[in-house]
Amino acid sequence: MKNEIVLQAQNLARHYDVSRGAFKSPAVVKALDGATFNLQRGKTLAVVGESGCGKSTLARLVTLIERPTSGSLNIGGVDMAKLSDNERRKYHKRVQIVFQDPYGSLNPRQKIGHALEEPLLVNTTQSKAEREKAARDMLALVGLRPEHYDRYPHMFSGGQRQRIAVARALMLDPEILVLDEPVSALDVSIQAQILNLLVELQERLELAYLFISHDLSVVHHIADEVMVMYLGVPVESGSRDTVFEDPKHPYTQALLSATPVADPFKEKRRIVLKGELPSPMNPPSGCTFHPRCSYKIDVCPKVKPEIRTVGQSLVACHVAKE
Ligand SMILES: Nc1ncnc2c1ncn2[C@@H]1O[C@H](COP(=O)(O)OP(=O)(O)OP(=O)(O)O)[C@@H](O)[C@H]1O
Ligand SMILES: [Mg+2]
Repeated sequence: MKNEIVLQAQNLARHYDVSRGAFKSPAVVKALDGATFNLQRGKTLAVVGESGCGKSTLARLVTLIERPTSGSLNIGGVDMAKLSDNERRKYHKRVQIVFQDPYGSLNPRQKIGHALEEPLLVNTTQSKAEREKAARDMLALVGLRPEHYDRYPHMFSGGQRQRIAVARALMLDPEILVLDEPVSALDVSIQAQILNLLVELQERLELAYLFISHDLSVVHHIADEVMVMYLGVPVESGSRDTVFEDPKHPYTQALLSATPVADPFKEKRRIVLKGELPSPMNPPSGCTFHPRCSYKIDVCPKVKPEIRTVGQSLVACHVAKE
């Protein structure tokens, strides 16, 4: 089906109380503060932004590892906020995650074949023979060889381990794959192989990807839609080509100016961001980007900009124009 929405997030937020020491009241970190987006079957939404902007927090909410503080998360037409933990568990299968470092999630004493079979053992009634066949088929699907079934995690290269992590995530036939910096730890040549594998698997299995990366050239390679985040808030979303070719938010413009991606012949002025990324415990007032923005006007420190349509994109900025 074309344009089938498999996940809808509305104003999704996650706040954490953090202690500031014995005699102070706890501070609130707004790790994620109002993300609205859809995931479509067979399509990739890429989330970009600097370290600490809330990307992994978003990943934990979407994979139901954590509950949102507010907002709604609708998966396959069901509002997750209204379900008990037990009922939510059923949906875990539909959303799986791949992390940057797959080594951390693989048991060093477990053969790869058995690691792949484990989700089936826990979640299905399949026989040993069925599980083994499924694991062997999956090894082939992700480009590994039959003899890898009996090997242990330390016997694989980084790229192969990431293939295993993808394989494991696919064992329960999910609809949505959340990929949190899946190629950031790999050499550039290996990155391309894994990205191509992900593209191939997406076409074949019609997976929806939420692809998290701080690397804009990786995002340009894989995304259909792009969402740019700054301090827990999406500041610009749109199709890949719109965001890369005609960025509207000053932050997106600065990020892109620092990355040699789309057109190497196009003359580019590098925009250097002023100052440091502010602490999320004490974010600037109004538009949280205002202290670093060279287009700042009077209203920016006073009023938080609502997300609005500018050209073909959705942008949270008082200044951005068509
Ligand atoms: N459990 C927690 N308790 C308190 N603060 C948290 C918690 N988890 C995340 N944070 C804070 O929320 C913010 C967002 O963190 P998150 O891990 O989502 O960022 P990120 O975009 O994934 O960063 P990176 O690119 O470095 O992985 C950070 O300021 C982080 O310190
Ligand atoms: Mg992260």
